[in-house]
Amino acid sequence: MNDLTPQRETPDSLMLFGFWYRALPAQDIGNNQLKKAMLLEIPLVVGRDCHGHPFALQDACPHRGMPLSYGRFDGQQLECSYHGWTFDAHTGQCQLIPSLTADQPLKVDRIYAGNFACEEHDNYVWVFVPELPPAGSGFTKAAEPPVPPPRVPTFSDQYKIAHLSADLPCSVDHGIIGLMDPAHGPFVHQAWWWRSRDSIHEKQKKFEPIPNGFRMSTHTPSSNSAPYKLLRLYANADSITTTIDFVLPNLRVETICAGKYWFSSLTTVTPITRDHCRIDVVAAWNLFRWLPFGSSLLKFVFAKFVEQDRQTMERQSEGLKHNPHLMLIDDADRPAKWYFALKAAHLEARRSGGEMRHPMTSPVTLKWRS
Ligand code: FES
Ligand SMILES: [Fe+2]
Repeated sequence: MNDLTPQRETPDSLMLFGFWYRALPAQDIGNNQLKKAMLLEIPLVVGRDCHGHPFALQDACPHRGMPLSYGRFDGQQLECSYHGWTFDAHTGQCQLIPSLTADQPLKVDRIYAGNFACEEHDNYVWVFVPELPPAGSGFTKAAEPPVPPPRVPTFSDQYKIAHLSADLPCSVDHGIIGLMDPAHGPFVHQAWWWRSRDSIHEKQKKFEPIPNGFRMSTHTPSSNSAPYKLLRLYANADSITTTIDFVLPNLRVETICAGKYWFSSLTTVTPITRDHCRIDVVAAWNLFRWLPFGSSLLKFVFAKFVEQDRQTMERQSEGLKHNPHLMLIDDADRPAKWYFALKAAHLEARRSGGEMRHPMTSPVTLKWRS
């Protein structure tokens, strides 16, 4: 690929199956409750049993498709509102078909509602969305996911945690490349306490390949913003280091360490439908723990950033509606190019059954002004 000419790029909206995704904030679902959710265009009913354990079923009865979320839930079993078929909330296994007479031999326990591995941690209920089964094949009990869901990195026993989400009216690809785009900062995220347009300067950052993704190598963040200056004073540390990873399908992990203090976040951009996604940020930190307003301050700062990104993408979606030609330029859009290359390599490996061929073979230094 010629690095001097801008690359025309039309992000596709392919959604990656076979990964864990954040379905809902955990606080949104009470015990014995059902909630609708959607992941990768799959409608889900997510709930919590009488012991508080979350579960996720496809929100369509295997009988005639009635959303199970309209059904009755007793804290263990879910009864479809149409003909009363009853399913175990966790396994999806059918327990009862009220219309069957004693001499009708249908094996009820061979019938399953679509069911998904489901886990709760770090303020969210995560759901594993497996590769789609061949069309027409029925459901069975969901297989164990190959890996546990991702977690926010933490570096001490005591810490605070908070989350926030925003709906983005764009495909997951635009959501993700917006998240990793280094050049929009001075234009979108202006604030007196952060930075202004006039502070644009040349930057140089090293990136390295990691499994399923890439890392902005550990470095000392630029000191021109107030929060970092503050952090340096507060932590009394000579060096603050930060590391940012992107990992397929949709994970951005940022870690900032300053002496014994740390701040980390796990941001995901989750495909809801082909042209709609949601950004969820979970941050954890042991800074400001003794400060009464520390966490609300931090949440305020984060909410402001996310809102600026959300509004930008909402406006961008107006322009994208009519399929304009788009381009990605070097070096500022190189992370976006890596994302598309990683996605293509992943899909190719799935297709061929071979090892994934990582698009980056060695560390690369990128330069841009921002
Ligand atoms: S559609 Fe659910 S029981 Fe018939
Ligand atoms: Fe942003």
